[in-house]
Amino acid sequence: MELDFSLFKEATREHYDLLLDADPSKEAVSKYLQRSFCFEARRNIDLVGVLILLPTRPETVEIVNIAVSEAFQQQGIGTQLLEFALKWASENNYRIVEIGTGSTSFGQLYLYQKCGFRIVGVDSDFFIRNYKEPIFENKLRLLDMVRLHKYI
Ligand code: ACO
Ligand code: ACO
Repeated sequence: MELDFSLFKEATREHYDLLLDADPSKEAVSKYLQRSFCFEARRNIDLVGVLILLPTRPETVEIVNIAVSEAFQQQGIGTQLLEFALKWASENNYRIVEIGTGSTSFGQLYLYQKCGFRIVGVDSDFFIRNYKEPIFENKLRLLDMVRLHKYI
């Protein structure tokens, strides 16, 4: 699917609908947006995805948020967003791209590993420490964050 990627400065309601699908903490999202490179993907005029890249350490950038609009999921757009992130990071002299996701996010873990990301650690109880409300996914309570990365 042909997509147009561009940076956005002000997150609209439409962006937030997607951003909060990947990360339910509005407080955390609005904090990292200010320090990140914020990309949107459009197909014609439709907003179909968001991709937020946060430089964390020298030569390292983290995908802190990636989301595809529900009507457009399972059509390869998530893969295209990840490929765009890897290309952009390489062109901007980063060496490592990181991504973290819930231990109960089986589909996301599949997708990231399919795109070459490797598991490097687990942040135990991350979702207890950082989120006020319990999160349930795939019939399990989400507790731990799985950290992955890819060298580029
Ligand atoms: N469950 C099961 N399988 C999945 C899922 C899922 N949630 N997401 C992707 N896959 C599989 C697809 O079936 C596909 O498999 P195939 O290669 O065998 O056909 C493969 O992964 C690639 O899928 P895409 O179509 O490229 O991915 P999609 O456009 O659906 O986007 C995304 C994936 C971004 C995870 C989307 O499901 C989404 O927006 N989910 C809600 C928000 C979210 O969970 N974001 C990630 C949170 S972590 C973070 O933001 C750092
Ligand atoms: N893929 C997806 N879901 C699974 C799988 C699987 N491989 N195995 C179990 N589940 C799910 C079931 O769908 C069920 O879900 P539900 O509660 O929503 O209905 C739940 O897990 C419980 O399943 P059970 O029926 O209790 O498990 P089962 O009798 O199928 O045994 C086992 C699971 C032992 C993993 C079996 O699939 C198996 O022998 N697999 C081949 C050998 C194997 O992989 N062993 C584990 C290797 S690791 C180790 O040995 C330490």
